[in-house]
Amino acid sequence: MCLRTGIIICLLLTAATAARAATCTEVNARPDAWVTGRVDALILAARRAFEDEKAEPAYEKVLSGIATTIRQCKVDEDVVFVSRYPQFVQYVATLSLGSRPDHELGFEVPDKQYFTETAQFVQVPDFLLDQGFLRSVSRYETLPRAKAFLRQLNLSRKPGEQLIFFSYESRHLGTPDNDNSFRRLLIVVPGDAEKDLPDKWVQFGVTDPGMRARVRNVSVVTAVPGPEGTSNVYFKDFFRTYRRDGLITLKGRWELGFGDDKCVQCHKSGILPIFPENGSVAVEERPALLAVNERFLTYGSARFDKYLDERKYGPGLSSASEADRNRRFGAGFEKTVAGRAMTCSGCHHYNRLGTFNWPMDQVLLSSFIKGGKMPYGLKLQPAERNEVYDKLIQEYFAVSASNPGILKSWLLAQQR
Ligand code: HEC
Ligand code: HEC
Repeated sequence: MCLRTGIIICLLLTAATAARAATCTEVNARPDAWVTGRVDALILAARRAFEDEKAEPAYEKVLSGIATTIRQCKVDEDVVFVSRYPQFVQYVATLSLGSRPDHELGFEVPDKQYFTETAQFVQVPDFLLDQGFLRSVSRYETLPRAKAFLRQLNLSRKPGEQLIFFSYESRHLGTPDNDNSFRRLLIVVPGDAEKDLPDKWVQFGVTDPGMRARVRNVSVVTAVPGPEGTSNVYFKDFFRTYRRDGLITLKGRWELGFGDDKCVQCHKSGILPIFPENGSVAVEERPALLAVNERFLTYGSARFDKYLDERKYGPGLSSASEADRNRRFGAGFEKTVAGRAMTCSGCHHYNRLGTFNWPMDQVLLSSFIKGGKMPYGLKLQPAERNEVYDKLIQEYFAVSASNPGILKSWLLAQQR
């Protein structure tokens, strides 16, 4: 019996080894064909996941398949291969970080290490942990009381330290604990450059009117000024716990075992401007909305410290050359309305507002384009906006062999 089990295991192992050897022989014999095939599969799966999060597991499978072959066949140790496909090797390695269970944030270091090292930047200030405030900020009905508390705090804060706050409805996403909860109270707590204290953006999810179960999430983003017009941006989600005795406590979402998200996937430019649901900000709070959207622009280019170098994700939306555009969309395309509007990467690049490259968020991009905010300062008709959006996505994800898109061209580019 034991012998028989042993033989079966042995046969299975031999079969697995043989399959691996066959793959590696193929990779080594025809590396170009293998890389091209895998790049196509990866980009197609990424595009599907971009359009619909239900396609994410399939994308993860393609990605991990490629990463496994790279590892098993040791192509990342093969000098010739790596010098032929440096972007491909590095891109797969960077994307794969986020697939590891202890890297839910998608950063270079495990989540635990990130939260330990950055704790000083993302703590919720003590004065926002006041029990009365926590109780009133948790429900829509009692929000006026929460705001009265903040106004009271402002009476004893110096002009440069005034809290800026307003409530709004997000047009983009629910909270991590409730997909259907869109109400927020955002509080910008000004830092103190002299004391090296960064501005903190603290955002409370607010329970909808009449709902029983209260929303738990509280998010924090901070921007710590760095050299040459950059800021290092740090993230953390917290969950409130509503205890039976009435006490409300606050602890890290990840520490409580509720996982985490890849914040940078949406926060490419670090702190994001607030583009709320129409009419959801009260007239008297609109100056606060304007003030925070101006303030976010003063942070300069976002960096994510040693935790992520976004350049490893390659070039972004709209960075195609004129020749490429003419080939794809017809000669003279650059003179059309859509052609003139597809200039995102003029402002959204590494040294300004951050690059839109995969992984990126479909809801956010389509909302800013179709909602009329982007491209900045251009007045376009709805049909033109749809065209801009569709063509930007098409030229980024295209995999055609004769006319590869932005991502594929970069992944297969020869080293100069
Ligand atoms: C699916 C996209 C997405 C992900 C993932 C995401 N955010 Fe956001 N976040 C947004 C958008 C969009 C806004 C702007 C407000 C709005 O439209 O809801 C925002 C706003 C915020 C704000 C208010 C300050 C600001 O930047 O405007 C905080 C704080 C915040 N997010 C924290 C986080 C943290 C922490 C994570 C990761 C744990 C995270 N977010 C992950 C999309 C996302
Ligand atoms: C002339 C510069 C400029 C161009 C071109 C431009 N943007 Fe923006 N974009 C901005 C600025 C400035 C902001 C900050 C928000 C604001 O001030 O309204 C922004 C914000 C955004 C945001 C929200 C913040 C973020 O990083 O996610 C998105 C999404 C966005 N732009 C997408 C685009 C897309 C897509 C295009 C091309 C169709 C584009 N933008 C073209 C300047 C520009």
